[in-house]
Amino acid sequence: MASYLQIADDEKGYNLDLFCVPRHYEKDLDKVIIPHGLIMDRTERLARDIVRDMGAHHIVALCVLKGGYKFFADLLDYIKMLNQNNDKSVPLTVDFIRVKSYCNDKSTNNVKVIGGDDLSSLSGKDIVETGRTMQTLLSLLSESRPKMVKVVSLLVKRTPRSSGYRPDYIGFEVPDAFLVGYALDYNEYFRDLSHICILNDEAKEKYRV
Ligand code: IMP
Ligand code: MG
Repeated sequence: MASYLQIADDEKGYNLDLFCVPRHYEKDLDKVIIPHGLIMDRTERLARDIVRDMGAHHIVALCVLKGGYKFFADLLDYIKMLNQNNDKSVPLTVDFIRVKSYCNDKSTNNVKVIGGDDLSSLSGKDIVETGRTMQTLLSLLSESRPKMVKVVSLLVKRTPRSSGYRPDYIGFEVPDAFLVGYALDYNEYFRDLSHICILNDEAKEKYRV
């Protein structure tokens, strides 16, 4: 079973005033729940675990856009650092796929997949809530018969809506709240925020479509 850093349900988070947050989002957020530095520290360790487990396998790293782009880029940077500073290294190529299923803060039950032209052995993802997006993607990937598929997700949400699906590598397990920042969006907003934060109810109304 994948180990992860658990953020408790009663986690108070950090006051926004203690961190740098874009002015245009100051009124929209309740708390910083995972500061950017902690995301980076955890990602560095995930990179080490992945390189250890991959042996000399060639990795096709598949980024699940848009929400996974920050995590993917940072995870690959750490893997590259290990590759250039260790005796052992794993060859890497990259590919990108786009999935969309959310409107406002709810899943639409309809997972759209666009792009991606290669097989995958490592899939980098932002967040798993019900697991539906990832399960759809995995069944699609299995059609190209890859040797091995490993899923890395920065976040997994503790929610009764979960299908039970668990990724192979997990950064953090988080409470059942809608999170934004570090490329996670609410109707496309908040991707330009470094920390992972909790959105307040006024903001859900303000950016609702
Ligand atoms: P699932 O299919 O229910 O596992 O949902 C996964 C997808 O829903 C993610 O790739 C995100 O795009 C979106 N999502 C789920 N929870 C959140 C959240 O708290 N903030 C932002 N996006 C989320
Ligand atoms: Mg989204």
